[in-house]
Amino acid sequence: MSLRPLTTPWFHGPAGHEKIWLGCAILWCFVMSLMMPYWHFRGKQNSTGEAYTVRPVDFLARTEKFVASNRVGTFKNPIANALMQELPIAEPPAGGDAYLMGRMWQWYPALRLRQGETYRLHLSSLDLQHGFSLQPLNMNFQVLPGYDHVLTLTPTSKGEFTIVCNEFCGAGHHAMTGKIFVE
Ligand code: CUA
Repeated sequence: MSLRPLTTPWFHGPAGHEKIWLGCAILWCFVMSLMMPYWHFRGKQNSTGEAYTVRPVDFLARTEKFVASNRVGTFKNPIANALMQELPIAEPPAGGDAYLMGRMWQWYPALRLRQGETYRLHLSSLDLQHGFSLQPLNMNFQVLPGYDHVLTLTPTSKGEFTIVCNEFCGAGHHAMTGKIFVE
């Protein structure tokens, strides 16, 4: 028989350095917990929390309508090795609404924005959860089907910004990229 009852007392409480390390870990837990509400109020890249429920099919229709009336060009997106994806570039009116849709596996459409103008960026997904990650700024938002997540956005610098997906979403996840041009 290999199982034997434990010899008592089997539990030895933390002692010496162990106590210090445990204390540091617990203290850090408190610091991290307090940082969450702190950044909620002080962070400059936070979501406004404005969101609406929307059927994916309706969000698709709004995005298609937005693209049809604001299209300014085409972007050839080199997504992986020899693969190329053509995306329409849409430019919303200053102060207006922009639509960006995540789906397996693209961010649609590419957007052209003006520095210093404020936009309402509507983000949603057609199929499953994607992660909107704007590089190199490292702004991150969860994109969920069924929700129209509205971000109030004012680009502060010009350039080309790449959107990557940072939520694993299947075979083409690594190739799910998009573009925002700021002029
Ligand atoms: Cu979309 Cu990963």
